[in-house]
Amino acid sequence: MALPVTFYKTMENQDLRVHGSIFFLLKKFVVAHFSEDMWDQLNGEAGTGGKSFEMTQNYPLDDIGAIVGAASRHTGASVNELKEKFGEYLVPDLFRLYASYLRPEWTTRDVLIHTEKVMHGAVRKLNSTANPPILNVSEVSETLLVIDYFSRRRMGSLAVGIIKGIARYFGEQDVVQVTPTTDPDDERVQIRVTFQKVELGS
Ligand code: HEM
Repeated sequence: MALPVTFYKTMENQDLRVHGSIFFLLKKFVVAHFSEDMWDQLNGEAGTGGKSFEMTQNYPLDDIGAIVGAASRHTGASVNELKEKFGEYLVPDLFRLYASYLRPEWTTRDVLIHTEKVMHGAVRKLNSTANPPILNVSEVSETLLVIDYFSRRRMGSLAVGIIKGIARYFGEQDVVQVTPTTDPDDERVQIRVTFQKVELGS
């Protein structure tokens, strides 16, 4: 049986769409920092008013760009600052959604090393409508990871925020430093993650 044309159109642009779970969490972020009315207002300005953003669907990248753009105009914060803050915020919820894939002994470094195969791997397996970015993680030394992010969605600032959020989740925000070493708006972004050694007994 032939599949409807809309199916092919959706698949064609899969990498320029964003999973509904991210929109769901973006709404939670806006409501937590501002209000439900603000969410409606941002969507009105973005031209996405009336969309319900289901957890099982995906939506055009431009929708999230327009909503964050409207939030930037309202707050005076840059789009990248907002994406980073949102990335930091969404980690506990993301962990709750995929809790069964996280090992209890893992901390920031382990989660980062296992994100591509285990976490994003689970997302790809469980949600045919999701298409997480590719992350190549190099273990340069005990105190340095270099993460190469690849995605046509150009959400490097969100990636930086997620890494910071993971460090905060494990109470390691003071010893983990996250620095993009290339333009965070590119399709390929390199991110340096350093771990400061904590001297015991000092
Ligand atoms: C517990 C770990 C993680 C889980 C469960 C998770 C899950 C997800 C999910 C469900 C999406 C939506 C995919 C879509 O829109 O189709 C996503 C996207 C994304 N993830 Fe992860 N993620 C995790 C860790 C990370 C880490 C460590 C990074 C950063 C290095 C990261 C960076 C991103 C970015 C930037 C996106 C937005 C889409 C894009 O840029 O292409 N994620 N992730």
